[in-house]
Amino acid sequence: MHRKHFLKLCGYTFLVTTIPISLSGCSSIHYVEASASDNRLKINKREFIATKKDKTTIRPFIVISVSGLEFPIALYRASDSQYVALWTECTHQNCEVNPRSGILECPCHGSEYDISGIVLNGPAEDNLKSFHVTTDHENIYIHLS
Ligand code: FES
Repeated sequence: MHRKHFLKLCGYTFLVTTIPISLSGCSSIHYVEASASDNRLKINKREFIATKKDKTTIRPFIVISVSGLEFPIALYRASDSQYVALWTECTHQNCEVNPRSGILECPCHGSEYDISGIVLNGPAEDNLKSFHVTTDHENIYIHLS
C-alpha cells in the first residue's frame, strides 16, 4: 500500500507534508456489541475513552454491531453531548462502508461520505442513513426507528 493511500485511510492526509510520523499502523477501531431494547441502543459514553500506557484519549468514533442487523452502526462523537449514528450500508450498491477518522469509505466502488453521512465522492448519490441520537450524563441512546 502506498504511504499516501495509507494516510488517507487513517484520515490524516494533512500530515503528509506537515508532520513526520511513525507509520506502524492505523489507530485501532473499537467495536461494541449491543442489542436493541425498546427499539433503541444504549451505549455507555466510556466506550469512547481509550487508555494506552497511562495516557487517556477520546476515540473519534466507535463501531457498534447489533444482533439481528445486517450492518453495524458507526457512532461518531462531536462532543460529550453530540453524536452522529450512521448505518454503514453504502447507498450505491449496498456494500458495507469502512468508518475512519473523519470519513467513511466504500471498498466496492470508492464512494466516500463525511461523518455526517453526506456523500463526498460518488458513485453513491444518496447520503448514508442516520439515526436519531440522544444522551444523558452517562449513556448515548441510538433510536432505531
Ligand atoms: S457499493 Fe459503495 S460505492 Fe458502490
